[in-house]
Amino acid sequence: MPIEVAAITPEIGAEVTGVELARPLDEATVDALRAALLEHLVLLFRDQPMTPEQQLALGRAFGEIQRPPVKTRHGDDPEINVLDQTSPRGEGADSWHADHTYTERPAMGSILRAVRVPSVGGDTLFASMYAAHDALSEPMQRLLAGLTAEHDITRSAMRGIRAGHLKTDLRALQRRLPPVTHPVVRTHPETGRKALFVNGNSTVRICELAETESAALLHLLFDHIHRPEFQVRWSWDADSVALLDNRCTQHYAVADYAERRILHRVTIAGDAPF
Ligand code: SIN
Repeated sequence: MPIEVAAITPEIGAEVTGVELARPLDEATVDALRAALLEHLVLLFRDQPMTPEQQLALGRAFGEIQRPPVKTRHGDDPEINVLDQTSPRGEGADSWHADHTYTERPAMGSILRAVRVPSVGGDTLFASMYAAHDALSEPMQRLLAGLTAEHDITRSAMRGIRAGHLKTDLRALQRRLPPVTHPVVRTHPETGRKALFVNGNSTVRICELAETESAALLHLLFDHIHRPEFQVRWSWDADSVALLDNRCTQHYAVADYAERRILHRVTIAGDAPF
């Protein structure tokens, strides 16, 4: 059966059929999925039962696995972050973010696999940061092009620790992962397109601006990325899978459920943004 890629919105998201992700993928299939990912930014699949080992093998088809810099308190495999939640409000993922931007080399991509889902709710929203960048006026794009921003794990770690989602010592974490600086607008290394690269979980200040200017501009940008025109919303079934390009997207886990929801996340290593 040939691979079929059906766009869900013009800016972001495609549902892919005609592939069994649990099987070893041949080069042509990986190339087709890579091309679809570059075009649609997040690929969504249903009915893809697989073991944790098969999910890791899928990740390796797209690059090196990056161990989660911070693990949740669930699961033993150091390469898989188990998101096992029943009271998800305020645990960190219900806020727009890209993965691991508090590291020097944020993830290239992530593979999320739904293991168990609530009977209703628990969707994930994905947003195109190309679309967010392109919708800004040219003077604003010019201003942002020269700026860098500091990303810090403290805020999101404190939220996760307080909610009991993360089991880690904050001080040790801050020593291991000190703040890093990234461009406010990054260039995608494969497409050459510009993507807005600040997020409410980790970006704490714009380095070149005065404190009040930085706070006002970040507020404006965090608000701007919320526009529904930049988004796709995915409703999970057990065995659904999402492959996302972390270099040009953000995501938000809707915390509207009170039944157990388990996702396994495997992360593919990325490069330093430029
Ligand atoms: C995440 O990777 O931030 C979690 C996404 C989700 O739980 O839907």
